[in-house]
Amino acid sequence: MTLAERSDVAAQIRGELASITRLAHVNTFHPNAFDWAEATAPAELPFLSEMAFGERGHERQAMAYITKELAQLAEIERHVSAVMTLVLGELQDRPDEINTGHELHHALSCFAAEEIQHANTFYRYVRSLSNVEPRVDAGLFGERLAVFQTDDHPYVKLIALCCSAYVGESVITVFEHRTDALDPMRNRFLTRLLHTHGLDEARHVKIDHVAMKLLYPALDSRQRDRVRTLVSAIEELNRRLAGAFQQATAETLGVDFVTGNPAAVVQLEMTRRFGAQLFAPDGSLRDVDEMVDDELHRLLADFSGQTWVHRGPRAVLALGAAGGAA
Ligand SMILES: [Fe+2]
Ligand SMILES: [Fe+2]
Repeated sequence: MTLAERSDVAAQIRGELASITRLAHVNTFHPNAFDWAEATAPAELPFLSEMAFGERGHERQAMAYITKELAQLAEIERHVSAVMTLVLGELQDRPDEINTGHELHHALSCFAAEEIQHANTFYRYVRSLSNVEPRVDAGLFGERLAVFQTDDHPYVKLIALCCSAYVGESVITVFEHRTDALDPMRNRFLTRLLHTHGLDEARHVKIDHVAMKLLYPALDSRQRDRVRTLVSAIEELNRRLAGAFQQATAETLGVDFVTGNPAAVVQLEMTRRFGAQLFAPDGSLRDVDEMVDDELHRLLADFSGQTWVHRGPRAVLALGAAGGAA
């Protein structure tokens, strides 16, 4: 890439980031602003059951499932926040045409601050929902941080972090669509929680897209290989983290929330497909709506009422007959 082209890319990246974060102070939500008593209102558990199992009657399993998933998500968000801060620190004495002015610094600072508040919010939610402390012995925070404590250029770390966060952000966006479809007036706390989380996530996804589509192609081939290596390493540790949360939650709450849980099946399938197809055969990075084939279309439509994840609206469909599920 010539310097002139690089200048163009840098200007484009800075412009995109400025536009993405322009209303970050408006489209956001502080955890203090929730009415936390509503998190455990009587209508919440039946709604959780409907959301996860497509019907009422599985309240305790649904509560345990949400507890596990959101406690685990909080752990991952805390790590995203920490690594984003690490990247900011490493960028401060490496000025270049992208890292000039306030745009990149502001976008990553907002991202990091929002993720630590999401972790705060989700931990508080699952505590009140389950009445237990959502902790695991094998949180792997040090190991997950060490993946990024390397000599790689901070942009390599940033892109790898965005790629790994992107898969989870895409999956939870589909769950947000599902709760919106089941509860369009947002009467339930869970719907409001996912909706308000989604206000920030919509920006994160756009920042991920900038990292994947504009910054990644500007790396040399060795740096691109390193992105792939870091993504694999963090994904492997996140899988171990998920196993630890599954075991700890099932033991603490004494309930099997996986067997016969259709939402868990859809979640696993989406996570697998989004992760597996992130790198296109030509080595470029794909956004999830570029991955959507007929089979995934049907899965998304039945589960969330939408045939898209981040781009839309293309079509709004009724949920599948079983109320979702695989
Ligand atoms: Fe988040
Ligand atoms: Fe996020």
